Amino acid sequence: MNAAIRAAVHQAADRRLTTIGIKHGFQGLLERDFLELDLCSVDGIIQHGGTVLRSARCDCFLTAAGQDLGAANLKSEGIEGLVVIGGEGTFRGGAALAKRGIKVVGVPGTIDNDIPCTDTSIGFDTALNTVVDAMNKIRDTASAHERTFVVEVMGRASGHIALMAGLAGGAESILVPEIPFDLVDICERLQCGAERGKTHSIILVAEGVASAYTLGEEVKKRTGFDTRVIVLGHLQRGGAPSAFDRILASRMGARAVEALLAGERAGAATFAAGRIEMVPFSRLFAASKRLDQSLYDLAAVLAL
Ligand code: F6P
Repeated sequence: MNAAIRAAVHQAADRRLTTIGIKHGFQGLLERDFLELDLCSVDGIIQHGGTVLRSARCDCFLTAAGQDLGAANLKSEGIEGLVVIGGEGTFRGGAALAKRGIKVVGVPGTIDNDIPCTDTSIGFDTALNTVVDAMNKIRDTASAHERTFVVEVMGRASGHIALMAGLAGGAESILVPEIPFDLVDICERLQCGAERGKTHSIILVAEGVASAYTLGEEVKKRTGFDTRVIVLGHLQRGGAPSAFDRILASRMGARAVEALLAGERAGAATFAAGRIEMVPFSRLFAASKRLDQSLYDLAAVLAL
């Protein structure tokens, strides 16, 4: 997200606009936690994960009264356009402000990659690389000790990290919230692998599917394989962003400012087929992001 903030500040400065940062997202908006962002304030941040503006969950902003106050604070501060970075919840907050007369552009930022109308979101590629790096390390110890590992990744309702990391890391099984799984089938496949000489396996499970610990116990009970469990957790939400994420965020952040200048009132800067495209919030909210079944099927073939 830092790369997006940096790009928005630079793009605005290029157009001789003043940029105000809002600390802690909507929470800071309600508390008027504003600070002017000049070019110096975004120097040296592109290589850092997270956000220099910080982030917060804000229940009060879910209410009409909170949204009224947010819009009033923006108006009284003389803020003419707002860039919000986050997931669909963030965009819904932005849309509520747009209804109150604020020009808002959303920049997709979530490791879950569950925002419709965009191929990917800021942070997803970095999280994916973190998981694949962890899988490489886990595979070393799994193979040395001839063990089965259950690796839990983030994704309460979204299996994008599990699926893509599973493909890239060669997982023997991938469990995602969008597709029902059959433990009998998973164990049979592990056993088939063992029969053809495979000495270790990795089962990748998205957190929304089941507890990795329960799953690990079950797999051990049913197969007799020496099984270990690891939950990667919030490791996936930090670290130096990948080059892809930095470039994506830079393009989206700059485009968000351009879109506001061009009169955009309520839309998101999305990434589709290599291009940054503006999509109205209304269209984005009506769409849904599906898991690519063909990639799931491919992962199953590659896991044999
Ligand atoms: O941003 C989405 C997400 O990363 C989910 O994958 C995960 O379940 C959740 O956030 C964790 O949220 P929190 O840090 O609030 O526990």
